Amino acid sequence: MTSSEKFLIVGPASQLLGVKIANGLGIPCINTEFKTFPDGENYLRLNIEDETVLEDKEIIIVQSTGPSTTRDQNARIFELFMMIDAVKRIGVSKIIAIIPYMAYARQDKIFRPGESEFAKVILRIINSMEIDELYVVDIHAPNTLEELTCKAVNIDSMKLLADYIKSLGATDIVVISPDKGALKRSKAFAKHFGEDVPVDVFEKKRDVKTGEITMSGQLSLKNKDVVIADDIIATGGTMASAIKIAKENGAKKVYATATHALMLENAKYRILKAGADEIIGTDSIDNEISKVSLATIIIDYLQ
Ligand code: R5P
Repeated sequence: MTSSEKFLIVGPASQLLGVKIANGLGIPCINTEFKTFPDGENYLRLNIEDETVLEDKEIIIVQSTGPSTTRDQNARIFELFMMIDAVKRIGVSKIIAIIPYMAYARQDKIFRPGESEFAKVILRIINSMEIDELYVVDIHAPNTLEELTCKAVNIDSMKLLADYIKSLGATDIVVISPDKGALKRSKAFAKHFGEDVPVDVFEKKRDVKTGEITMSGQLSLKNKDVVIADDIIATGGTMASAIKIAKENGAKKVYATATHALMLENAKYRILKAGADEIIGTDSIDNEISKVSLATIIIDYLQ
C-alpha cells in the first residue's frame, strides 16, 4: 500500500462511482468485504490487513444507499455505518462521507397522523457518528440537511444530465416537471439547455393512503423534444404518467431523466411502454440506466 495522505473507501453500493472518484483524485482506494449472516445481520470489513496505513489519514467513504436486486436500503445504510465506525476506531484525521442517494429522504415530513420524519432520523444518526463532511446529490428535501452539525453539501447534478441530453441531439426542448414540488428544480434544469427554454408542470396527485398517482396537464408540445426531470424514479409510475400526457400533447421525443433512477419493479417497462425514447440516470445508482457519471462534479468539490 502507498503512503498516501488520503484514502477512498469504495462502499459496496458505489463500486463504479467510488473507483472513478479515487482515480480522478489520484488516491488509493480500498474495497470492502460484505455479506449477510444467516440470521439476516449485515457484516462488513475494510479489505486491509494493516490498519496502521489508515491512521491519521483523511478518509473518503463513497456509499449510495439505494436498494438493488441483492441488497435493500437498510443493508446499505448499515454498511455505511460500519465503514464509518471502522475508520473512526482506527483513528483517522478526517472522515468525508459521500452518499449520492440518501435512502428515506422522501420521508421528510408528516403526510398522515402517526408517521415518523425518518429522513431526519437517518441524518441525525449519521451526525452522531461525528463525521467531518457529508456530500449528497440532489437530495429529495435539502432542508433535512439542517439536522447535521458538520459541513453538509447537496451537489447539483443538473448540468451533467443536461449536457448528456444535449449530446443526444435534442432540439426545440421543453422541460416538464412531473409535479409542483419539482418545479423549482425543473426551472433551474431548463437553464442548462438555454435561457429561453420553456418549463411546464403537470398536476400530480398521490393518494397518501394507497400511493396511487393521478396526473393531468394540457400543453402544446407538438414537435417538441420533451425532457421530463425528477429527482427519483422508483417504480416509474410518476414518470410513465408524465410521458403518457406528454405524448398525448404531441411530444416528438421524450427523455425521461432522474438523478436517482432506482428502476424498481417493472419501472423500465412502464416508462418505455408509455413512450420514452431514452431513460437517463446517474451513477448514484449503479445500474444500466446510469449513463451520466457524477465523478467529475464530486471530484470538483473534493479538490
Ligand atoms: C416524489 O416526490 C419523487 O420526487 C418522485 O416523483 C417519486 O419518488 C417517483 O416515484 P415513482 O417512480 O414510484 O412514481
